[in-house]
Amino acid sequence: MKKTILITGGAGFIGSHVIRRFVTRYPEYSIVNLDLLTYAGNLENLKDVDHLPNYHFVKGDIRDAAFVESLFETYQFDGVLHLAAESHVDRSITNPLEFIQTNILGTAVLLNSARKFWKDSPEGKRFYHISTDEVYGSLGEEGYFTEETAYDPRSPYSASKASSDHLVRAYFHTYHLPVVLSNCSNNYGPNHFPEKLIPLSINNIKNNKPIPIYGKGENVRDWLYVEDHASAIDLIFHQGKEGETYNIGGNNEWTNIALIKKLCEVMDTALGRPAGTSEQLITYVKDRAGHDLRYAIDSSKLQRELGWTPSVQFEQGIVKTVDWYLKNEDWLNNVLSGEYEKYYSDQYEKR
Ligand code: NAD
Ligand code: TYD
Repeated sequence: MKKTILITGGAGFIGSHVIRRFVTRYPEYSIVNLDLLTYAGNLENLKDVDHLPNYHFVKGDIRDAAFVESLFETYQFDGVLHLAAESHVDRSITNPLEFIQTNILGTAVLLNSARKFWKDSPEGKRFYHISTDEVYGSLGEEGYFTEETAYDPRSPYSASKASSDHLVRAYFHTYHLPVVLSNCSNNYGPNHFPEKLIPLSINNIKNNKPIPIYGKGENVRDWLYVEDHASAIDLIFHQGKEGETYNIGGNNEWTNIALIKKLCEVMDTALGRPAGTSEQLITYVKDRAGHDLRYAIDSSKLQRELGWTPSVQFEQGIVKTVDWYLKNEDWLNNVLSGEYEKYYSDQYEKR
């Protein structure tokens, strides 16, 4: 069936994998990528698919209500997949207002336009809000986040995502906007901006620079290969129940230190260095403020109701990821611009 779909944040890490999946799997859909191209947005992420006739890029800001409304007017969207956000916890600690503006106000602007344009014909329309497991807060050593876990965000990033989730649900209950939501654990894979733990460590190992581990490295994250997140998003967009939330996770928990030791092993092999070389770069640094101890996701609802399971095992996924970064030096060099160097020295050299 023909559809015109707005994907926000399509030039970012996860958004670019979602765009690739949609433009190649659904040639009958017209896909509009709305992205502001902040430091995290990079059109190079899409260079293999940007020539396809069903792909259109629009540079713009989700906070700009008049502009977003004009896009809805022009394209008459049938669906929205909303991924645009400020996404890095450390940046949210330094600059919370930017997160509040983009993640909360930006989401409200999109919801308002969807409401205005769909209110007389909601059938077949869908507003899909992509969110994070960080809204649930921090776990102790036991337990998992389910869709019923009470929200308890601890960082400006997670609090801004939690607010946006609440707004999406409010538009469902108040205005019957046809929404669906998902909350996913940490993603990894190609095109991940090297401010996040895995790509930052890959880049530092490659350049023989210290690998900064916050605190004792005992914090736990659940890691999912980004293409598996894209496959879950595809399924939920098409088959998820209106008004529902689905947790997405990799069943793949690692303490940061164990993860980095594994990465060092993979990097030593890939770079032909003697075993144990990269581990020597591990450096413990001052902990992140309000550092959540553990995230772990129960994604059994998604498995039970829609039949989704992750397809990439971590052992393969991490090797594929390292290979991609080593083969795509140009991509890495292009994103390691002046802005990155300033961010890096502000963030790490004073720790
Ligand atoms: P990212 O930072 O790599 O990409 C965000 C994209 O949004 C960039 O292309 C950026 O240019 C764009 N953007 C930012 N502000 C904008 C604005 N005002 N208007 C238009 N575009 C704007 O983020 P990501 O890691 O790909 O995350 C995508 C979404 O998935 C986010 O909503 C995030 O909260 C969520 N999420 C991420 C993870 C993860 O592990 N990365 C896990 C779960 C959920
Ligand atoms: P990150 O990739 O920033 O994702 P998130 O904070 O959204 O989970 O960080 C993953 C984990 O790694 C988190 O516990 C913080 C830690 N970390 C470090 O130890 N050192 C670093 O340089 C970074 C960026 C993160």
